[in-house]
Amino acid sequence: MAESMQGLKRTARCAEFTIEDIGKTVTAMGWVQKTRNKGGLIFTDVRDRSGIIQVIFEEDICGSEVFAKAAGLHNEYCIAVTGNIRSRGKDANKDIKTGAIEIEATDLRILSEAATLPFQIEDETNTREELRLKYRYLDLRRAPLQRNIALRSRLAISVRNYMAEQGFLEIETPTFIKSTPEGARDYLVPSRVHQGEFYALPQSPQLLKQLLMVSGFDRYFQLARCYRDEDLRADRQPEFTQIDMELSFADVDTVIGVNEGLLKRIFKEVLDVDVELPIRRMTWQTAMDVYGSDKPDLRFDLPIVDISDVVKDSEFAVFKSALEAKGAVRGIRVPGQGHMPRKKIDALTDVAKYYGGKGLAYLCVNCADDGGHKSSFAKFMKPEEIDAIIKAMGAEKGDLLVFAADKLDTVRNVLGNVRLELGRTLDLIDKNAWKFLWVTEFPLLEWSEEEQRYTAMHHPFTAPMDEDWQYIDSDPGRVRAKAYDIVLNGTEIGGGSVRIHQADVQEKMLEVLGFTPEKANEQFGFLLEAFKYGVPPHAGLAYGLDRVAMWMAGAESIRDVMAFPKLKDASDAMMGAPAPVDPKQLDDLGIGIVKKED
Ligand code: AMO
Ligand code: AMP
Repeated sequence: MAESMQGLKRTARCAEFTIEDIGKTVTAMGWVQKTRNKGGLIFTDVRDRSGIIQVIFEEDICGSEVFAKAAGLHNEYCIAVTGNIRSRGKDANKDIKTGAIEIEATDLRILSEAATLPFQIEDETNTREELRLKYRYLDLRRAPLQRNIALRSRLAISVRNYMAEQGFLEIETPTFIKSTPEGARDYLVPSRVHQGEFYALPQSPQLLKQLLMVSGFDRYFQLARCYRDEDLRADRQPEFTQIDMELSFADVDTVIGVNEGLLKRIFKEVLDVDVELPIRRMTWQTAMDVYGSDKPDLRFDLPIVDISDVVKDSEFAVFKSALEAKGAVRGIRVPGQGHMPRKKIDALTDVAKYYGGKGLAYLCVNCADDGGHKSSFAKFMKPEEIDAIIKAMGAEKGDLLVFAADKLDTVRNVLGNVRLELGRTLDLIDKNAWKFLWVTEFPLLEWSEEEQRYTAMHHPFTAPMDEDWQYIDSDPGRVRAKAYDIVLNGTEIGGGSVRIHQADVQEKMLEVLGFTPEKANEQFGFLLEAFKYGVPPHAGLAYGLDRVAMWMAGAESIRDVMAFPKLKDASDAMMGAPAPVDPKQLDDLGIGIVKKED
């Protein structure tokens, strides 16, 4: 049975009724959350996106026909109830917003019945995610997801308002484009008209927004859909949204200034959190040296200390061989953890090995029963060398010291991750903190072992620091970029750079990246051509909107802030995409499928 709503008008959302409405006749519409039949009384909780209101059916008041209909209600029926708001008096339920009132029903319409659901609509669920995503439209009925999606909407609106106030124009760029290199694989769209040719879906609107600067739009922004074919993680989806912007006649400080204003505004409007300005800045070099990461989590301390100089003459083979190979020996002081059980230290060693280390040397300062040190390597060193290490680490009795010795990259990676593990397992992370950080002066280039050439660390359009450009031929790895990332609690939520705006610098950069002039022209000819006609210096930045929303919502996964996310294998469980297509469609496109052997 599905009745029409003709003649009825919803008075308000379920949880918008208050004690002010007592005595009024209202109509509520929504879904049956639960219903209990207590003989002569039926209690039904009706839910919509605002929350729940209790409805009470009393046969004497609503009549036997309505009462019989109410007795047939089941969970998730979509209904309309008309009745009078009355006080629940001493039966008030303090746990819900409308707990002091209820609707005393006089009429009921069943707008739509519901089959038995594949899972219950409950705040807490242990239904496996694959099933929830298959029935995503039902999963989205759950209050936590309703809250997340509403938060995301407030965030998007807040961004738009701020950007408009700052003189940015919202401009849409196409999603059928030519490949823009952001480092991932492209999703391709075959052309029917131009057989054998493909559009690429944008990994970002990077080149288009730069061209908008050439056009003179000055300040552009867009909530842009981006597509990247890469391995998925908790904070990565194949299709996601960027808060994307570009500014003309702007340098690093201009971009940072506008964005500090943006962060302050959105955190205040969406969460009522005050972001303290200015946000701390740290060079990439410092971040890597002190935190072993280009996105340090500053919610706790535990800095990394370099002791290479202190142990340079040591005979301990692990340290000696690392230093002889021009590597480094660095350590972390963990205050008061000298009595950490051996098992836990072994678990840290496993972390070190997982991240490419060969082990983790440790020293528990004066923790042995006889007052001496407990250590995996002290026996290989002279007592005065151990004293020098303790001093360099600023350690005291009862502290735990852990060390990695290896190539510099490995030492940073190992200790960066050991630090995070310590932060988590020792409960050092303040869950209520919002630690923002600008990481600046990234290297321009990064050596790729796999490809045996330099690749762009950010993208090929990022400008070098003026004072470093002189090293581009002699020592390319030394050139720093005018690039910056914005980091929140240890995740990169956004990144950007000042762009190259001189054609000759851009051409040189492409050459260093291994593009022949022909290849450069084929891929970016339109950009190089545009650079001939008066290019303003420009700079920009893009946030992952989903990642910002994820932090704001306190969500564990990016999927929890997207209406229709993809599974880990990039498939859509609900629609069943990707899917084979009709052979006729392939034929039109001139495409034949060749099964690849594994
Ligand atoms: P970048 O590649 O750093 O820069 O991307 C900007 C931000 O987008 C988010 N992000 C993602 N979010 C969800 N799923 C993904 N797969 C994903 N990949 C990236 C991150 C990241 O910080 N064109 C440049 C920006 C610029 O230079 O202006 C760019 O796209 O939060
Ligand atoms: P070994 O002499 O191999 O037993 O190592 C002595 C200690 O040094 C152990 O605690 C190892 O975990 C540690 N160790 C081994 N290799 C490294 C390394 N590259 N960096 C730091 N510690 C290491």
